[in-house]
Amino acid sequence: MSRFIVVSNRLPVTITQVEDQFRFEPSVGGLATALSSVVTNESALWLGWPGLPEEDFSGQKEEVKASLLELRCFPVCLSQEELETFYYGFSNRTLWPLFHYFLQYTIFDHRFWEGYRSVNEKYAEAILSIADEEAIIWIHDYQLLLLPGLLREVLPRATIGFFLHIPFPSYEVFRVLPWRREILEGLLGADLIGFHTFDYARHFLSSVRRLLGYEHELGLIVTGTRAVKVEVFPISIDYRKFSEAPADQEVRDRIEKIRKELGDRRIVLSVDRLDYTKGIPQRLLAFEAFLERYPEFREKVILILVGVPSRTEVEHYQELKSEVDELIGRINGRFGTLGWTPIWYLSRVLHFKELAALYYLADVAMVTPLRDGMNLIAKEYVATVPEEKGTLILSEMAGAAAELSEAILVNPFSLEDLVGALKEALSLPRDERLVRNRRMKERLRRYDIHRWAKEFVQALGEVKKTQENFVSF
Ligand code: F6P
Repeated sequence: MSRFIVVSNRLPVTITQVEDQFRFEPSVGGLATALSSVVTNESALWLGWPGLPEEDFSGQKEEVKASLLELRCFPVCLSQEELETFYYGFSNRTLWPLFHYFLQYTIFDHRFWEGYRSVNEKYAEAILSIADEEAIIWIHDYQLLLLPGLLREVLPRATIGFFLHIPFPSYEVFRVLPWRREILEGLLGADLIGFHTFDYARHFLSSVRRLLGYEHELGLIVTGTRAVKVEVFPISIDYRKFSEAPADQEVRDRIEKIRKELGDRRIVLSVDRLDYTKGIPQRLLAFEAFLERYPEFREKVILILVGVPSRTEVEHYQELKSEVDELIGRINGRFGTLGWTPIWYLSRVLHFKELAALYYLADVAMVTPLRDGMNLIAKEYVATVPEEKGTLILSEMAGAAAELSEAILVNPFSLEDLVGALKEALSLPRDERLVRNRRMKERLRRYDIHRWAKEFVQALGEVKKTQENFVSF
């Protein structure tokens, strides 16, 4: 039986197949990257999906399982059909767009809901095969909203925490979901529910009160039989890993190489999963308008755009990819010269050292999602860039804006805001950059990913004690 179990849809490693060999690569996305540096404890086990449909490795399931267990990962194998309804369906065609305020992309399909419920049940079974009432179970993200309730039915005394890595939308948006009550009841199976910001917690509490009728006081919801705590824990990064990266020789060599190619051109950096919530077309249009309006910057600035392919089977992601490809082609064709390509486009996963070199070199990072739970790219950039050098342009719609108020904050829907911010960022005096970055770096250094995880787990222990008092009372 395991004591501490972390559960997320995706494991921190993803299986990839090269010819008949299976390889394990680090998973893409903020959650896996952030939590990997936390789950290092010997007694911890991470449970989740290894990234390939089980049909792709059905002949070698046992070997794959054994190799994953060596990495303290316990796989939940999902079939192609389960992935269609659970992952590409309810998770990424219903919950993801709805929780990011993209109602026009949200699909309500009963088949998706059934698939979502049955995969959540599958996760519950997998956990129950390795956990008992003594276990501490920490569940992550929107793919597993029913899991706390399913586990609670079988393990009434277990310690269950839940953390949502994406926004929780306003009640007026959440209420349109046909399965809104089931989702809230599922979540209330946890002892502690964590959000990135006060606004998300507030939206959740308001939905619970209006849809289920449970009141709350100081974040404590009393359901009649149990008390559930709602708290705010803004996720962070492994600050040391990023701040110390530029001292690494391989990172230094990469920095040198890129610098040689670019000469003294200034760099604007944009890094995201290719997701419609990230505001990539708006950012490209702003860069185009900037070059048009301020010709003195032509040939002097380059935009490096990293777009990591993601959820490629969902139509809106495919459409986004075509739109981004077209915009880049148009802007490069329109402004490029023989010696200058305005946008460098990297459409692939970057390894840590490549990314660190880009963060170090970038004069400006444009992190302008239309909606984002937190956005760790903003934090990684601030941690890595030299304090006198970088400027962060950050969307007001990212959870990170609540903490990084020294960034140039913009409304990502406003072209004027984006163009103005680019001009301001590229013209900011050195001393101003230094003051802003020092403050942000200090904040990130103090509240890093380790502190985030520690505070969540500590709060979970405290809530459990309150629960016991409540039950005996
Ligand atoms: O933070 C949101 C999230 O869905 C995480 O759960 C995940 O790590 C990341 O985005 C990448 O998404 P996916 O697992 O769908 O590739």
